[in-house]
Amino acid sequence: MAGLDLTHRPRRLRRTDWTRRLVRENVLTTGDLIWPIFIIEGEKRREPVGSMPLVERMSVDEAVRAAAHAQALGIPALALFPNTDPALRDETGSEAQNENNLVARACRAISKHAPGIGLMTDVALDPYTSHGHDGLMRGEEILNDETVQALVGQALNQARAGCDIIAPSDMMDGRIGAIRAALDHEGFEHVQIMAYAAKYASAFYGPFRDAVGSGGLLRGDKRTYQMDPGNSDEALREVRLDLEQGADMVMVKPGMPYLDICRRVKDTFGAPTFAYQVSGEYSMIMAAVERGWLDHEKAMLESLIAFKRAGCDGVLTYFAPFVAEKLAKSA
Ligand code: PBG
Repeated sequence: MAGLDLTHRPRRLRRTDWTRRLVRENVLTTGDLIWPIFIIEGEKRREPVGSMPLVERMSVDEAVRAAAHAQALGIPALALFPNTDPALRDETGSEAQNENNLVARACRAISKHAPGIGLMTDVALDPYTSHGHDGLMRGEEILNDETVQALVGQALNQARAGCDIIAPSDMMDGRIGAIRAALDHEGFEHVQIMAYAAKYASAFYGPFRDAVGSGGLLRGDKRTYQMDPGNSDEALREVRLDLEQGADMVMVKPGMPYLDICRRVKDTFGAPTFAYQVSGEYSMIMAAVERGWLDHEKAMLESLIAFKRAGCDGVLTYFAPFVAEKLAKSA
């Protein structure tokens, strides 16, 4: 046809499934997934998280069953988050240091009964404080250096309970180096650190705070420690500091609204890079699925391949067991 330059016809490579698969640049595998789960007290208990369709809080014994299931599906690691009894929350988050707290009990039970799965634990005080902040407070201020001391104690407590990956999500300055030194000093040199390196002060954490029961408690917001959503160069400075201080892996959080950050981090440092597809991202998709506005499977898979395309090595996602089941079926 006159005027059309058809030297190249990109559609040639899209005509059939086999050719699409042949030229596909990125693939999502079960090996890319970390599954965040919520732990509650009790036995044989599972309760739905109202703001996160299909997500349940689980007692430790149920978490063990979930871990065995995840391991059988090939999911490499779980991330554990406690919903702490309100009576155990105080100004300083002292329950974080209790060697028999929920996370410690879950770590011990899972590493005993499903030893093949990696266990990641969150270092930050917010599931344990009466004010819902990640750190210690003086007046309205979140104290940095004092908080780092408490976080070191929390990280050691988790390592002693058998955690494999320490994941500080608190955004205090200097915590990665302090935690690394303390772990090494106690003989935990094999325990890994995944730093929540570029973590933004985001509206998308809302359902998570509901899940761990800290939302109603939170006084003010987290903007004096979590990053400003307008910043991008600052994310690189944060990641650099965490890598210099000994982080094995770095994370960008939230995920989908910050894919540009994932790409810059991967291109700049070439380090193992992860994204956290956070609760609000999950719930946005699931709310639309519930209304029949989006296809569950397709929206889930498309939202996750975006992280691979953006350069991530893996992703923390509440979709993990659903994706793993889907990939197992289509294998
Ligand atoms: C706590 C923490 C948060 C998340 C993970 N660890 C919430 C927050 O910083 O307020 C959010 C995860 C999610 O939304 O899925 N420091």
